[in-house]
Amino acid sequence: DIEPRVFSGIQPTGIPHLGNYIGALQSWVQLQEQYNTVLYSIADLHSITVPQDPGTLRASILDMAACLLACGINPSKSCIFQQSQVTEHAELAWILSCLTSMPRLRHLPQWKVKSQTQRNEGSVGLFTYPVLQAADILLYRSTHVPVGDDQVQHLELTQDTARLFNRIYGDFFPIPRAIMSTSKKIRSLRDPSSKMSKSDPQKLATVRLTDTPEEIVVKFKKAVTDFTSEVTYDPEGRPGVSNLVAIDSALTGRGTEEIVQQSRGMDTSQYKLTVAQVVIHKLSPIREEMQRLQREQSYLREVLYQGAQRAQEMAAPVYDSVARMVGF
Ligand code: ADP
Ligand code: NA
Repeated sequence: DIEPRVFSGIQPTGIPHLGNYIGALQSWVQLQEQYNTVLYSIADLHSITVPQDPGTLRASILDMAACLLACGINPSKSCIFQQSQVTEHAELAWILSCLTSMPRLRHLPQWKVKSQTQRNEGSVGLFTYPVLQAADILLYRSTHVPVGDDQVQHLELTQDTARLFNRIYGDFFPIPRAIMSTSKKIRSLRDPSSKMSKSDPQKLATVRLTDTPEEIVVKFKKAVTDFTSEVTYDPEGRPGVSNLVAIDSALTGRGTEEIVQQSRGMDTSQYKLTVAQVVIHKLSPIREEMQRLQREQSYLREVLYQGAQRAQEMAAPVYDSVARMVGF
């Protein structure tokens, strides 16, 4: 049997928000304690699938490195690296793209959504980026992939691609399994019918990991709830206040029931301030550490360089085997 390897990636597109933290980064920190081999890629190759600005991208890569470290990813436990520095990602993606049919990609929901927002339906890279994701994962013969439910179909593509490769060229890739996020999807503070997202144009809807305590208080004060003043947990009937309870639960580890019990006698406007304090308590050390690290650019580059070296040591033999199996 094969040694477990955990792989995940995050695009360097601006400062992560509270949804990213609760849905992904918080569990990434735990996974590095549970598994020996853990890789986290700053997915810059994925960031150029849509029009982008080079200066912004360059800054965002270092910001993301600072952010991962500030959240508690430890470079001696996890391999943090910049995807483009390990060239085998793109090379394996090419080989896998030759095993992937056009209709298989066309049916993926994210393509349907994202291509509509791009001129001319978007780039070929945007169309094939799930193949690059498959390559990201398979390049390390990864066995476990933490994913949000929005990525489940892409992981299924990865699994299908691994099976297809194994059938055509011989058994080689383990079939990677999802580690599903157990936390609730965090919703927009301004419109609880949609998820918190970095692309939300509404001011005050999204809490960034670098928000100051004052900004956090304002955003929670303005959070949309309903006309019932009690704190209850009912995501269908009362999405607004339930979102606050979900945030509280994810950051304090208390169950939603327990939170509701302990909030008896509090109205929603008081509870908003309580949750704001919970968020401030969690994010302040992250914000401060991130600001400190952003002044240590050469340290960040060194962490990424070391990470890429280690990632490449794992990737190169895998890619060499694949190339040989394919007939190169
Ligand atoms: P966005 O939707 O803001 O562009 P991404 O698609 O870059 O975020 O998501 C990065 C990671 O964060 C994924 O694992 C995704 O499942 C998780 N994530 C994004 N938004 C949320 C949310 N509102 N609640 C929980 N997890 C989220
Ligand atoms: Na998403």
